[in-house]
Amino acid sequence: MTQKISGFSKLSKIEKINWLTQTYFSGKETASQLLKTYWNSDTKLQQLHDEFIENTVTNYYLPLGVAPNFLINDTYYTLPMAIEESSVVAAASKAAKFWEARGGFKTTVLGTTKIGQVHFMYSGDFKRLEAFFNEIHPTLIKEAKPITENMEKRGGGIKAIELVNKTAALANYYQLHCTFETLDAMGANFINSCLEQFAQTFKNGFDADIRFRESELSIIMSILSNYVPDCIVRAEVSCPTADLTEKGIDGEEFAEKFAQAIAIAEVEPYRAVTHNKGIMNGIDAVVLATGNDFRAIEAGIHAYASKDGMYKSLTHVSIEDGTFRFWMDIPLAVGTVGGLTKLHPLVKWCFELLKQPNAKELMQIIAVAGLAQNFAAVKSLTTTGIQQGHMKMHLMNILNQFEASSTEKEQAVTHFKTNPVTHSAVVHFIEKIRS
Ligand code: MEV
Repeated sequence: MTQKISGFSKLSKIEKINWLTQTYFSGKETASQLLKTYWNSDTKLQQLHDEFIENTVTNYYLPLGVAPNFLINDTYYTLPMAIEESSVVAAASKAAKFWEARGGFKTTVLGTTKIGQVHFMYSGDFKRLEAFFNEIHPTLIKEAKPITENMEKRGGGIKAIELVNKTAALANYYQLHCTFETLDAMGANFINSCLEQFAQTFKNGFDADIRFRESELSIIMSILSNYVPDCIVRAEVSCPTADLTEKGIDGEEFAEKFAQAIAIAEVEPYRAVTHNKGIMNGIDAVVLATGNDFRAIEAGIHAYASKDGMYKSLTHVSIEDGTFRFWMDIPLAVGTVGGLTKLHPLVKWCFELLKQPNAKELMQIIAVAGLAQNFAAVKSLTTTGIQQGHMKMHLMNILNQFEASSTEKEQAVTHFKTNPVTHSAVVHFIEKIRS
């Protein structure tokens, strides 16, 4: 059977599955049955999920876990986390408990503006373009009014439109570099609609202007930027270094070692990437649970980690006058209205769990999840090593790979409470109890 098909999207769900299983699978019935096992019996709910994207054949589950005891600006939160990695939720919960006993997390939103750009090519004189831009600026704002009216009523809208000359980087390249405030919306649709209107107004004005030839201007594209260095939130913790003492670990010594680990991630990109990946374990999990766009957030945060010309740690530490301070500033463009937020039943559930935060509050919660996750990872790395906790959480996955029964699982959990978990040790243990 050919592996090429035209008109696939027009097929019904069943027809799509039949084509897939007949084309790619040896066990056709099993492959098709597996997809159906993941369908929801509530047909309305299933249809909702089917319609999120094109060519849906089934649902793809991720566990939704929760991490309680997060004290953020003196308020308790239980964080929802959608993630597959075994140790992430446990690590978050541990960090939450650790800092709850030391005053909790403090957060501040440092900025909320977002960026979009109209990219265009212009081959004429810059001074003429600049004069034209200054003349058309009020019309750009005016003709976007039908799009911006509602946002403006709520206090948001267009904050600035600037003409940027980028010809030093690329011949004939200019931008309308635009700044927006989108309040509780992530703002992608609002920003992109404004930008497309700006591009249209700009082109119409240009074409009608006798100072220019039409061929001198080519609008290339209009799109928001996921780099949002002015939509920033700070999350931090601090305590006397002596208060870091815990379970035989000396606070002062721990603080020094912890600070060295952060210093390494500030100068060594190989380490910085893994260090920041640990932060993203916390961030992505809450971003996903709250129906936000984790790809946009990942892209923006990693770009921010490189803002000084080298990829660096996003978290920082200081030890001054006996006080340990650990903090992170990150860009986060998130929404609490629009997108999936009012559509996906589990996302709605997560918002209720978080006490219906607005976008600023959600920024703060997500940043804390990242900081907590990094604290837990670096704490393990610089004390026990990461594998002890990680493998303990991974034990169930290994047992499931071997289809262990409930009794076998119980026996294994008891055994590995006092023995190091490694893949081979678990295999050996199962073989032993089964023989
Ligand atoms: C694993 O998912 C994340 C860590 O590697 C992060 C880190 O090394 O800091 C443990």
